[in-house]
Amino acid sequence: MALPKSTNRRSRVLAAAAALHLLLLAPAPAAAFNYADALAKSIIFFEGQRSGKLPPGNRMTWRGDSGLRDGAQHNVDLTGGYYDAGDNIKFGLPMAFTTTMLAWSVADFGKFMGAELPHARAAVRWGADYLLKAATSTPDTLYVQVGDPNQDHRCWERPEDMDTPRSVYAVTKDTPGSDVAAETAAALAASAVAFRRADPAYSSRLLHAAMRAFELADRHRGSYSDGSLGGAVCPFYCSYSGYQDELLWAAAWLHRASNNASFMSYVRANGLQLGAGDDDFSFSWDDKRAGTKVLLAKGFLRRNHNLPGLELYKAHSDSYICSLVPGTASFQPSQYTPGGLLYKEGGSNMQYATAATFLLVAYARYLRSAGAGVVCGGREVAPAELVALARRQVDYVLGKNPAGTSYMVGFGPRYPRRLHHRGASMPAVREHPGRIGCDEGFRYLHSGEPDANLLVGAVVGGPDARDGFVDDRDGYGQTEPATYINAPLVGALAYFAGTAKY
Ligand SMILES: *[C@@H]1O[C@H](CO)[C@@H](O)[C@H](O)[C@H]1NC(C)=O
Repeated sequence: MALPKSTNRRSRVLAAAAALHLLLLAPAPAAAFNYADALAKSIIFFEGQRSGKLPPGNRMTWRGDSGLRDGAQHNVDLTGGYYDAGDNIKFGLPMAFTTTMLAWSVADFGKFMGAELPHARAAVRWGADYLLKAATSTPDTLYVQVGDPNQDHRCWERPEDMDTPRSVYAVTKDTPGSDVAAETAAALAASAVAFRRADPAYSSRLLHAAMRAFELADRHRGSYSDGSLGGAVCPFYCSYSGYQDELLWAAAWLHRASNNASFMSYVRANGLQLGAGDDDFSFSWDDKRAGTKVLLAKGFLRRNHNLPGLELYKAHSDSYICSLVPGTASFQPSQYTPGGLLYKEGGSNMQYATAATFLLVAYARYLRSAGAGVVCGGREVAPAELVALARRQVDYVLGKNPAGTSYMVGFGPRYPRRLHHRGASMPAVREHPGRIGCDEGFRYLHSGEPDANLLVGAVVGGPDARDGFVDDRDGYGQTEPATYINAPLVGALAYFAGTAKY
């Protein structure tokens, strides 16, 4: 096909840019950063987000016990779990997604973690233990949130002091929430994979609970944000993408965890209705489509033609992955900041960058193990190129960026010091045992002082579309950390910690 001249010139410019780019990449650079240290810190962060009774070895030493009566008014034990971000609410949807991604990190990258593997498993278990209680304490009921978020957000209080209502929210047959129930099923199933060899008895309990949660999700369909829970979960973690993506994601995880053919039949029979044919280019606590495709493509690549019907997922994984590769003229190219960070949207953009980075590395390994590649815009893209792209994202997070700052607290010489995070911003309970009340706390939010406590390993929402970052506690879109920013990064950091040459 003859191309118009202007396109020819454009492709020559692109080819020159690509060649320059390859030149800059070769020879394989020595590790720019201490990825093992970043991995260790990325996991310690989860100990700072723990709710409930802290074990003696909790490494975020400025934290104390909190939420010890969660669930008590309903005679259920809902203590434990994670606060999602800089507040004191236990939101089920992001907590389950966080646990799924931590478990996927252990399942795929555990062998690169070295001494960090037990810590990573403990982070999975802290989420999975809570989800297990939430899913199995009361028949046909899944507890999906503890804490009234509107009241909580009107206060600036340490988790150890909080006195806002610890309201309990649940989905049942009559008040369905297929999104949160299926994500919980995915989290329990993925955790079952992560513990398959390390603790087989625990693994089979998790798998059993996952199957039950999936049944509740699939048989009683509806979105948790449409019904009576809407006012409690929106606008915080409204299920904008609906529940279809979570059903398919859960079925894919249940298949990986159980190898039970009924879940593969479910995927084949329902895939297209549940989003398998969409080309969607975001992966987050809300939208699981890209992750599901990559996970199912693994089954296709590994077993090859033994699992017919999964070609679809390989094809759609390819188009997702191509959308991330700059200069391949994909159908819907991703945007990057001038400094090279994947850019999806203004608030807490970093979550999209870390989630996509995880998928790049995971997919590169699935391709490599099958001796396969991906063709983007007519060009063969090798797994190594996907890994290099992922590494540029990780390096950006750790400090190789125009703002000259690491976006991980406690990593490198310069990092955010004013987190939108109640616990980090206020004096530690140990140093200031007296209560600091709801309103009184706001002086810490508005103060320009650096954080009293280091939330080591926390990765914040990150820079804007022009690589600009303001270290301001009020700017929650940039300075708030979240468990679902860190969780996928754990897997990617493990890969680089285990493979980079020093
Ligand atoms: C496979 O899963 C289905 C659906 O959950 C279940 O009914 C069946 O008992 C499972 N089979 C085995 C062998 O575990």
